[in-house]
Amino acid sequence: MLERLREIEAETLKQLESIEDRGALHRLESATIGKKGEITGILRSIGQLPPEERPAVGQLANEVKRRLEAAFAEREEYLRQQELARSLESGAIDVTLPGRPVPTGRLHPITRTLREIYAIWAEMGFQIYRSREVEEDEVNFTLLNMPPHHPARDMWDTFYTTTEGVLLRTHTSPGQIHVMREYAPEPIRVILPGMVYRYEQITARSEIQFNQVEGLAVGHSIHMSDLKGTMAAFARRLYGADRRVRFRCSHFPFTEPSMEVDVECILCDGEGCNVCKHTGWLEIAGAGMVHPVVLKNGGYDPAVYSGFAFGMGVERITMLRHGIEDIRYFWGNDLRFLEQF
Ligand code: PHE
Repeated sequence: MLERLREIEAETLKQLESIEDRGALHRLESATIGKKGEITGILRSIGQLPPEERPAVGQLANEVKRRLEAAFAEREEYLRQQELARSLESGAIDVTLPGRPVPTGRLHPITRTLREIYAIWAEMGFQIYRSREVEEDEVNFTLLNMPPHHPARDMWDTFYTTTEGVLLRTHTSPGQIHVMREYAPEPIRVILPGMVYRYEQITARSEIQFNQVEGLAVGHSIHMSDLKGTMAAFARRLYGADRRVRFRCSHFPFTEPSMEVDVECILCDGEGCNVCKHTGWLEIAGAGMVHPVVLKNGGYDPAVYSGFAFGMGVERITMLRHGIEDIRYFWGNDLRFLEQF
């Protein structure tokens, strides 16, 4: 019996050394130390042995059982490690692989320009006032000194809704009326940014929708010189301190006098190029002193109050700064364009 026990131990340990899968390991385990295993069988049959042999067999059987248990556990752990190493190697999970980049969105180039513009005007004390995009004909035109049938309306044809007298605003200027009516007779210093709409033939330089930033200052003793100084300060902050600025006479029904603001072409430094049509200058805004009729429509007495207003195109400014040659890219939703910013 003792001999057999030593044999089982030696044989099992030898087999264990070459066992490579856990199924075979478990089979060998139950054949030896399992419930129906040989060693378990020997332990159970000790009672049938002659009394003088019992202690020695019992002791050895228990020792062998404990040693084999330890050997099985050790081999099992070894196989587990092997399996893990194999699965890592075969690439089930390669923890060293760099992660897949999560696509992140970014700000639209127009949003970025708008934020820069807001920051400059904020420094000069202008607050943002949001005005509606769906507007009344009355506010978009009539209250801005363009009564029905006024020829200036032709410059700003737009999209009309099925409701009589309601349209998509053609410029941010109707916001002037809303802000004045809300704050009169307080002094005002605001910018009014947002989308405007025009019924136009779409080309590289004109779109049916684009952003403007309107500005309005109303108060006591506001003069043309304030407007010029303010526009020059803005242009230098946006385009660089040594940019030259010039003012040209112009006409808008809602300002008097009116002007266009030009900056020295930022692409050719005033030398003359395709973008500035060889003039050396780029138009950045329309502006002027608020017309007395408009002041009155806003609730201010033009004999006491005066003010200036301006309006600039945001896509225009962005095109110049990034050398973008077609305005249609902005709202065409082409990622190849948008991802460049
Ligand atoms: N609203 C004018 C336009 O869209 C721009 C402008 C605004 C001009 C304010 C003068 C004063 O062309």
